Amino acid sequence: MEPMTHRSSYRTIPVLDQRTGTLPLPHGAGPSVQSLPGPTQTTDTLGRPLRDLRISVTDRCNFRCSYCMPKEVFDKDYAYLPHSALLSFEEITRIARQFVAHGVQKIRLTGGEPLLRKNLEALIVQLAALRTTDGAPLDITLTTNGSLLARKAVALKAAGLQRVTVSLDGLDDAVFKKMNDVEFPVSDVLEGIRAAQAAGLGPIKVNMVVKRGTNDHEIVPMARHFQGTGVVLRFIEYMDVGATNGWRMDEVLPSAQVIERLQAAMPLVALEASAPGETAQRWGYANAQGQHDPQLGEVGVISSVTQAFCADCNRARLSTEGQLYLCLFASQGYDLRTLVRGDTSHSGDAALAQAIGSIWQGRTDRYSLLRASLPNEAPSGKARRVEMSYIGG
Ligand code: GTP
Ligand code: 5AD
Ligand code: SF4
Ligand code: SF4
Repeated sequence: MEPMTHRSSYRTIPVLDQRTGTLPLPHGAGPSVQSLPGPTQTTDTLGRPLRDLRISVTDRCNFRCSYCMPKEVFDKDYAYLPHSALLSFEEITRIARQFVAHGVQKIRLTGGEPLLRKNLEALIVQLAALRTTDGAPLDITLTTNGSLLARKAVALKAAGLQRVTVSLDGLDDAVFKKMNDVEFPVSDVLEGIRAAQAAGLGPIKVNMVVKRGTNDHEIVPMARHFQGTGVVLRFIEYMDVGATNGWRMDEVLPSAQVIERLQAAMPLVALEASAPGETAQRWGYANAQGQHDPQLGEVGVISSVTQAFCADCNRARLSTEGQLYLCLFASQGYDLRTLVRGDTSHSGDAALAQAIGSIWQGRTDRYSLLRASLPNEAPSGKARRVEMSYIGG
């Protein structure tokens, strides 16, 4: 485990240090998608395909969740990225197109809070026009705190967004306000979820980060609330991601205990994974006969700390300013923005495709697995890990 540093000391660290440097881009080697006949599937050193691209469209958020953007660090003096540093929608789409050519089938827009990015619908329109190597539309989704969802759900759907995942850490206002740290009420998020359902942005998922001693008593009320509504609630183990949240193992409630607590209140049965590399283990609400009742729906647990799921990890992350990160816990990324800004021609696209292929082929990351086997040290050594608000969840 990494030695703990007192949070306030980060205030004085210039923001560029927090974002860390970049890794050199590979030269020449690797598959150019244009040179391969038919559908392409690029795999990494552990045989993991590239399927899921998470794109952070802003490093800003209107919440200050203690596990993600603690107020003490992300205060009024925090230097967010200037607009010129952000990838434009055209740049994002150019990069995304090359990821899709390497096998990506799902795109998740994240932040910070992605709905704070102006005119995000225009980006969704562009991404929705892309096709997978099999010619199918992409699964395009978005992770949001729900605060602007009631206002935006219809426009997002019209732009081509398929579904949304909403973060909500409790139903009790006092608990939720403590988690978001900006006095945001539960009712407005629930309203956003209703609007998203009405707009057809389903199946909707709700992510609840569980912090032992802070919101774990909300587990059963949350499950009861969403049972039978079509919303899939997922409980997430509080992770040691980033370098600012003051993570402690004793605040993690293992998913096995989440399931135990739920089982004591309502019968559940384990379900099969619906896709390879999925983050969540699925559990269905059972009927009186002990069988899954699809009408009642399902819950999920995401056990990044106690049961690492790196073995099938097919997720790449594109930061707000165009750096490619191969792992949520990485300290450094690869600068794709320079490539995309340097040459906007067809050969520029080929270079981009080649870089993405080579980088993915060289990927060895499996942070959570390594940490599980080395509980007393951080696998990436002392390098400062990138913040989740910068590369997205
Ligand atoms: P669906 O396609 O909707 O099932 O999405 P997903 O589960 O792939 O994505 P989502 O962003 O909803 O993931 C939920 C949470 O799981 C995130 O907010 C993170 O806390 C965690 N998570 C997602 N991807 C990873 C990952 O690659 N590694 C780790 N350690 N945690 C992850
Ligand atoms: N641990 C687990 N999940 C986190 N998220 C952000 N920080 C953490 C953390 N430390 C995830 C949550 C949230 C999404 C935006 O990012 O799932 O819903
Ligand atoms: Fe914002 Fe989501 Fe991070 Fe909370 S978890 S601070 S809502 S980006
Ligand atoms: Fe993937 Fe890294 Fe998460 Fe493992 S820790 S599942 S490699 S992002």
